Amino acid sequence: MMPNDHNPIILDLFADVMPTTPGEVKQIGEQAFVLRGFALPWLDRLLPALETVLHAAPFRHMVTPGGFTMSVALSSCGALGWTTDRSGYRYTAHDPQTGLPWPAMPAVFRELAQAAARQAHFENFEPDACLINRYVAGARMSLHQDKNERSLIAPIVSMSLGLPAMFQFGGFERSDKSQRIPLFHGDIVVWGGVDRMRYHGVLPLKPGQHPRLGAQRINLTFRCAG
Ligand code: SIN
Ligand code: FE2
Repeated sequence: MMPNDHNPIILDLFADVMPTTPGEVKQIGEQAFVLRGFALPWLDRLLPALETVLHAAPFRHMVTPGGFTMSVALSSCGALGWTTDRSGYRYTAHDPQTGLPWPAMPAVFRELAQAAARQAHFENFEPDACLINRYVAGARMSLHQDKNERSLIAPIVSMSLGLPAMFQFGGFERSDKSQRIPLFHGDIVVWGGVDRMRYHGVLPLKPGQHPRLGAQRINLTFRCAG
């Protein structure tokens, strides 16, 4: 039998991998939400600003304190940028690669991050750091907690662009079972408050071609770092 849009069994099989309705809000914790398609109406303003930032602070593969080169390529913008090298993880005011301050956070980035935070019931979110992660096929981010920020209550606002990825949203111990949440172009995940220290990660990216971003996934995470 051919797959058929009207076949409920086939629809059910694909329910987890098909983009969901823009505007849908899925609660994944007491203070954690997936905002489906939230960034889509902003992208005509956001993507050119992203290009300008990446021109000033290009993607690079950083080395962890343990000596491993990350499969995800990174950059940052805002007053503070996240870096890692053999001496540890930290936020810095300057891009170690250029010696210059990190590019300023474009207004459209800040406005979108604040709007998403508000939608997830976090008022007065004032991010001072935006990490930019690029995943190509096979790149992954193993389960970790975001704990280099000054505020461990203020939310993380995490935006997905390009190819879909499988996000893992876990508990407060690395070994806790995690939810698997497919994330698509334009989706935003927000977690803070009691859920702020949850382990999270991204499974290896599947190869593909996104009509707007090509063979990659770009993730922006906004934080109160300093
Ligand atoms: C991160 O945890 O910094 C990245 C999460 C993601 O790529 O969705
Ligand atoms: Fe993270």
